[in-house]
Amino acid sequence: MSDIRDEVFAAFTSLYGHEPNGLWSAPGRVNLIGEHTDYNEGFVLPFAINLRTVLALGTRDDRMIRVSSAFADEVVEIALDGLSPNQLSGWSAYPLGVVWALGQFGADLAAVPGVDIYLESTVPVGAGLSSSAAIESAVALALNDAWQLGFDRPTLAKVGQLAENKVVGAPTGIMDQSASLLGKRDAAVFLDCQSLESQIIDLGFAEAGLELLIIDTGVSHDHATGGYAARRASCEAGAAAFGVPSLRHLSVDDLPRAREILDDETFRRVRHVITENQRVLDTVRVLRESGPSAIGDLLDASHRSMRDDFEISVPELDLAVETAQANGAIGARMTGGGFGGAAIALIRSDDVSRLQVAIDGAFAEHGFGQPVSFVVNASDGAIRE
Ligand code: GLA
Repeated sequence: MSDIRDEVFAAFTSLYGHEPNGLWSAPGRVNLIGEHTDYNEGFVLPFAINLRTVLALGTRDDRMIRVSSAFADEVVEIALDGLSPNQLSGWSAYPLGVVWALGQFGADLAAVPGVDIYLESTVPVGAGLSSSAAIESAVALALNDAWQLGFDRPTLAKVGQLAENKVVGAPTGIMDQSASLLGKRDAAVFLDCQSLESQIIDLGFAEAGLELLIIDTGVSHDHATGGYAARRASCEAGAAAFGVPSLRHLSVDDLPRAREILDDETFRRVRHVITENQRVLDTVRVLRESGPSAIGDLLDASHRSMRDDFEISVPELDLAVETAQANGAIGARMTGGGFGGAAIALIRSDDVSRLQVAIDGAFAEHGFGQPVSFVVNASDGAIRE
């Protein structure tokens, strides 16, 4: 970490010709369980990971905002006055979208000084590890500090989500930004997406001799188009058929009726969400009562539900999960929005390298592109460095 912080400080100073006020960072996340439940006002159990966006921010004495990053060879410059979502596109829509969204949440953008921002990230893009939420959360926290806005972290998470929904154009829920802002070392964030109350749940992976392996399939996905929005629409149709505001208001007891009143596809979408909510609650209970070695069946069941009912898996994700299960993983599932990205496998430390070799072999045998696998640790959320 110290390397990237030094790099960011140096790049900021040489690009803008003055030193920053400070450095901030925010992590990506992995979701342990609770997929496509957040926008249904359900439960999720993600954790922040040890891969982060680091940014330097310095205030200016005019009303301009300049952003630059290690991702693109450009400085994007925009005036605070008249800032609107339709001016924003490309990578800079993430940081600048947050500026706009802070205003929507009541920050007085007419009274703040301009800023220079430079950012860099170790969160891989397109792997389903929320590289975008890491940027949004780092920028939201940095501006909250620099402009002394006084927003709490749950509100900053909503700011990031609004930027993602209205500026980037992806109809995503609140999970990723919440994990990035609320995460704690060696623990997961158990979030009720209806009340937005959260609890920190100890994971205890290290004590149990376990590691969480990410298997990035390299299949890229984009939640601003296609399948993600279609799944969300099915969930809304299912809730509407029951006359409830969201699927959170239904439980497994409603499944027989759901089968009667919904078409088969909508029924399966709804069944995924209802049973996934239950699996999150069960995972929290099992973690507390028996520890992480006992949650494997819940992870496996979550994957089956996403593969068969929600239909958001792809052959590469299924292969990663099956190979993990056949090579000693306690449990495995795809993680994130689906249609590509990464799978996770919970596995004994001693078995990690054997599994990595098996995954590489299985992908090669199926003619799939080479996957990238690595261990992540549950880490603290966004901070001022
Ligand atoms: C993406 C979205 C989240 C959530 C997951 C699926 O990561 O950004 O809000 O909906 O997909 O659980």
